[in-house]
Amino acid sequence: MCGIVGYVGSEQASPILLEGLSKLEYRGYDSAGIAVFNEGKIEIAKAKGRLAVLEEKTHNGATVHGTMGIGHTRWATHGEPSDENAHPHISNSGRFAVVHNGIIENYIALKQRLIERGFEFMSDTDTEVIAHLFEYYYKGDIMDAMIRVINRVEGSYALGVLCSDYPDQFIAVRKASPLIVGLGEGENFIASDVTAILKHTRNIYYLEDEEMVVLSKDGVTVYNKDKEVVPKDVFTVNWDISAAEKGGYEHFMMKEIEEQPKALRDTISPRIKDGKIVLDDISLTTEDIKKINKIYIVACGSAYHVGVVGKYVIEKMCRIPVEVQVASEFRYCDPIVTKDDLVIVISQSGETADTLAGLKEAKNHGARILSIVNVVGSAIANASDDVIYTWAGPEIAVATTKAYSTQLAVMYLISTYMADKLGMITSGEYARLISEIEALPDKVEEVLKSKEEIQYLASLFYNCRSIFFIGRNLDYAVSLEGSLKLKEISYIHSEAYAAGELKHGTISLIEDGTLVIALATGRDLFDKTVSNVKEVKARGAVVMGVTTKDHDMTEVADHIIKIPSIHETLLPSLTVIPLQLFGYYVASLKGCDIDKPRNLAKSVTVE
Ligand code: F6R
Repeated sequence: MCGIVGYVGSEQASPILLEGLSKLEYRGYDSAGIAVFNEGKIEIAKAKGRLAVLEEKTHNGATVHGTMGIGHTRWATHGEPSDENAHPHISNSGRFAVVHNGIIENYIALKQRLIERGFEFMSDTDTEVIAHLFEYYYKGDIMDAMIRVINRVEGSYALGVLCSDYPDQFIAVRKASPLIVGLGEGENFIASDVTAILKHTRNIYYLEDEEMVVLSKDGVTVYNKDKEVVPKDVFTVNWDISAAEKGGYEHFMMKEIEEQPKALRDTISPRIKDGKIVLDDISLTTEDIKKINKIYIVACGSAYHVGVVGKYVIEKMCRIPVEVQVASEFRYCDPIVTKDDLVIVISQSGETADTLAGLKEAKNHGARILSIVNVVGSAIANASDDVIYTWAGPEIAVATTKAYSTQLAVMYLISTYMADKLGMITSGEYARLISEIEALPDKVEEVLKSKEEIQYLASLFYNCRSIFFIGRNLDYAVSLEGSLKLKEISYIHSEAYAAGELKHGTISLIEDGTLVIALATGRDLFDKTVSNVKEVKARGAVVMGVTTKDHDMTEVADHIIKIPSIHETLLPSLTVIPLQLFGYYVASLKGCDIDKPRNLAKSVTVE
């Protein structure tokens, strides 16, 4: 979704803004723009389409001069993608330029009032009201104007604001939309995402809701709404800059698929010490765990699919009832959550609007929130009682792979940890699980060696119109993810079904040549799934079986993918790898824009 970058320093701002915006392209956008302060005036350049259009229009920024500016990539919500609707938006006098992420919910009423007061609107966006409100409230002090603006608008925002009366400084603020401050030497930055400024600095401030920041080349000061200075801790980002670069790969997605063993090691190893799971990050005591009445898992998309795995695993290991819900439903279903419940919130970005709202809903009911998040200091992390970070590094491809895998790993760690504290597993089983969790990165590495085999299978099926994934229990949970991976990047229709459910309606869609990918990795339900495979075979399906080296599907499957053996509970971590690869290769053979699939954005910051 939308991205923000801001710069003040001694260098020309435009090339820095454009380069920063290019690092935010992965979030998904449809237009881009920059505003730069130059000799007492604000100059604006914006263009519909890819950033390349704006780069061409400005000769890579060379035609827009000045050493302070703000930039934006827009993902349309209010008004179609167009030059007019692209940010920055400017006030009628040209004194203020504004970039905005988020949604101003009361913009229609505000727009009406501003029109009545003579303001002229140039765009269909909600953002433009902010530029005019600044003009309206400004009496010579930009901070006073900012306070009045944020008191007036409802909704979510990260704002960067230039004012032509302030040649050396600009101002920013956030509420329920991410914005960080980058601290350089003789230069300072704002960004909606750390990747945009990683090249320049690793030292950042995280802003709390409604904190305002004034940036000049020599300093940064954060204020609260009472104009009091807020002391901030500098946080040093340890992400490797190469992690946000393609590094010779054709697509980020393949790079990130291959980064999974490392991401898993980084996530697992610090949490296993002397043969024990150590979750220093959280304050949940054994007493707290014993008191948990019920666990809710709330997330969206692939993170929700991790939740589906989590339900099977936690219920089996801890015998605590678990309800897993997509956040967009949970937030509006008046959930029966109490203070005795634990709500596990899962999110890579930590800023998904529905997930954040679900979290707040659960909090309002008094529940304790434990989140699994990849982006440090993100809104979901900040709003949680406890956070366990996945150390996957920046994930750029829209389709998640390494974040999903590390979320699964954290889910295993939590489940095993709680099962031990509850006395639900023997010390032998605990030790076995830990050593198998530790072995996961190597086993994922082993599965990745089957890349060419999967590429060959993709070459047989990339013309399919529809593909079904089936499995039972944990295999069903992974089917959901395999199906999503395929459809979101290859645009092939796909559905995932609990294998035993297909015959209750959907089996009528199976015809000669329909590809069914059958996951049959679990020991206990292997025979049951094989029976379901026979049912689809009998109706003409071509079957690709995914199973472990311990099982034989030769009699029922036309093609077989084998994964190594591992503790039953951990199988999803291996099963998902060939499915990620299959989706990737199918999309690649179809010539799809793999890293930026149509209609999708990396961080979904609107509901
Ligand atoms: C699919 C995918 C999405 C995300 C979902 C939640 O490949 O990436 O389904 O999992 O949008 O995003 P986060 O985890 O950032 O909350």
